[in-house]
Amino acid sequence: MSRSGKVKLRLGVLVSGRGSNLQAILDAIAEGTLSAEVAVVVSDRPDAPALSRIDDAAPKIPGVVVERGAYPTGEAFDDAIADVLDEHGVELVVLAGFMRVLGAGFVRRFQGRVVNIHPSLLPSFPGLHAQRQALLHGVKVSGCTVHLVDETLDGGPILAQTAVPVLPGDTEESLSERILKEEHALLPKTIQEMIEARFNN
Ligand code: GAR
Repeated sequence: MSRSGKVKLRLGVLVSGRGSNLQAILDAIAEGTLSAEVAVVVSDRPDAPALSRIDDAAPKIPGVVVERGAYPTGEAFDDAIADVLDEHGVELVVLAGFMRVLGAGFVRRFQGRVVNIHPSLLPSFPGLHAQRQALLHGVKVSGCTVHLVDETLDGGPILAQTAVPVLPGDTEESLSERILKEEHALLPKTIQEMIEARFNN
């Protein structure tokens, strides 16, 4: 794909909850450190606080709810999300706290164009409560990972990681907060690096 420096890559951001990583992407775009635009935000939960973060964006970013319960199969659900992304001309899909596994059909349709952020140093501690898992195992270092997405849970080639120390007396909350701060820096930075390496030539 040939892109001039001024063309902004169209991102589709998938969310399920709070949306602080979505906010980090919006902030990096506003600051000019990420040459992209959010073309659409898709949530599998109608009540996700992430959706309200786009209400004030100008021009307004469309937010679309696609609920798993509205579809008979996982494949039909994945197809519905993929159709929304295609309708909005999405070039790169970002899973920013999207708490579902997308199937092989979706991954094939967006081959090499789906990234995920996860709050551990993968391949350690995929899945839910990664920070709690890290504490239970007594690791001394944890962190966050941005990776290309395959059809497995938090699986696929690793693009970037940031490590943080696990300190004596850490709770799930304190460790999550330390990791989240790094997530907010790592995700936009890695997307920008992808744009420069893979789309800007
Ligand atoms: C983040 O910590 C993200 O890494 C994690 O969910 C949180 C979402 O926060 N994602 C996963 O665990 C994916 N397996 P946010 O909604 O505030 O961005």
